[in-house]
Amino acid sequence: SSKKYKEPFRPQFHFSPEKKWMNDPNGMVYYKGVYHLFYQYFPDDIVWGPMHWGHATSTDLIHWTTKKIALFPDKLGMIFSGSAVVDLHNTSGLGTKENPPMIAIFTYHDMEGEKAGKKNYQTQGLAYSLDNGETWLKYSGNPIIENADQKDFRDPKAFWNTETNRWNLVLVAGDHAQFYTSQNLIDWKFESDFGQNLGAHGGVWECPDIFKLKVAGSNEEKWVLLISINPGAPNGGSGTQYFIGDFDGKNFKTSQKEVKWVDYGADNYAGVTYNNTPNGKRIFVGWMSNWLYARNTPTKNWRSAMTLPRELSLIKTNENYVLKSTPVEQFKKQLVTAYSKDLIAIKANQKISFDYPHLNQSEIRFKAVTKNLKLVFSNETKDSLVIDYEAESKIFSIDRRHSGIVNFEKNFGKEIHKTAMLNNNSETMDYQIILDWSSVEIFLNGGIYTFTEQIFPTTPYTQLRIQSDEEQEIKNFTIRKIKGIWKN
Ligand code: FRU
Repeated sequence: SSKKYKEPFRPQFHFSPEKKWMNDPNGMVYYKGVYHLFYQYFPDDIVWGPMHWGHATSTDLIHWTTKKIALFPDKLGMIFSGSAVVDLHNTSGLGTKENPPMIAIFTYHDMEGEKAGKKNYQTQGLAYSLDNGETWLKYSGNPIIENADQKDFRDPKAFWNTETNRWNLVLVAGDHAQFYTSQNLIDWKFESDFGQNLGAHGGVWECPDIFKLKVAGSNEEKWVLLISINPGAPNGGSGTQYFIGDFDGKNFKTSQKEVKWVDYGADNYAGVTYNNTPNGKRIFVGWMSNWLYARNTPTKNWRSAMTLPRELSLIKTNENYVLKSTPVEQFKKQLVTAYSKDLIAIKANQKISFDYPHLNQSEIRFKAVTKNLKLVFSNETKDSLVIDYEAESKIFSIDRRHSGIVNFEKNFGKEIHKTAMLNNNSETMDYQIILDWSSVEIFLNGGIYTFTEQIFPTTPYTQLRIQSDEEQEIKNFTIRKIKGIWKN
């Protein structure tokens, strides 16, 4: 119908399911020109229920086509999160050399077992596709990784390790990660545990990922381990931390002491990266929600969206490694310049306003001096989203308490979200702010700090006010409209 993807709050350039409930991104793999995105999906309701893998594909990571459901629950359980690879040399024997199988490895969650008080109700299963991901068959020997007696045991990420010429797999077991190796994707050998005494432990560990990145401007390479935790994130509920270290295919080692976060906003969870991407790019997608209130957000026939796909990179400053994220290159094609100004000088306590009808489908970009700066997005119905940087304390804050509908759950609009940007020693601040109908994504200084938050303005924002209590200088200011991605 013509109303498709036009409902209140419907993201116009982020992936969201046509209808019903979605959570984590799963099985992200590139094959034969196509990016596959699977996701935790419940086709019968807009709240979480027996999990399936929904499926969508894209050739540019921006425009998506919904495919039929890839994996359904079976007698071993519901289909929880996991990953997918292309078994190019048919090591599994489930395809042929001429037609290599795509392989998905996921968690089976046996609800009956859980109800019966068993501890080992989560195991790992395998499914394969011989038609480039169109249809999937469950492996007859499931589960492929049994569970001894570990209550939370899930979210396997498998990948081909080019250094060891073996398959690797990382999964989480309650409060730590476990590493496995395999020659054929079916028989897995446990190698090591990581993390009981390291990192944040405010909640259970979920959705791990591990990959190697080059440190920008050097020949150094480091491994990055992503671990989502729920609860225990810096701004409440769910969040994703990372560790920088070394991995020999069996053990992950790090000297990192402090906790590092992929995103400091409230709504970027369970994010993992693509396998098999062209040019070795490391592309990340997160679920743009938080278990604190994911089930209560004020949308009607669908729930939640994914973050923009982001390219990850690694930098090192003062012996400190930082994971950067920026929207993938392909996103630039969606931008149409609506307004630009080379220089905006702001006097102390002056307020400068821009009226623009499409702020909830736009990118705002500029460079400011690293001084106090406040941005206020608002509409005629008096909702306002306030983004504020305080130079002395280095505190960056997002205040969505009055950003629109917030009362659907008590935690959503309770507090101003504050982040001390202690590593921010730069003299200028590069702002990239991307607003969709129900989200804001902020990339500071090229993604050294990233903030993702949901918002539900009662009507789209139509005004942006920029102000400071100090003299400020804004350079290269642009507002760009973002083209929608859904055909109606
Ligand atoms: C993370 C998570 C995963 C699990 C899935 C179930 O959001 O809890 O650990 O596999 O969601 O839907």
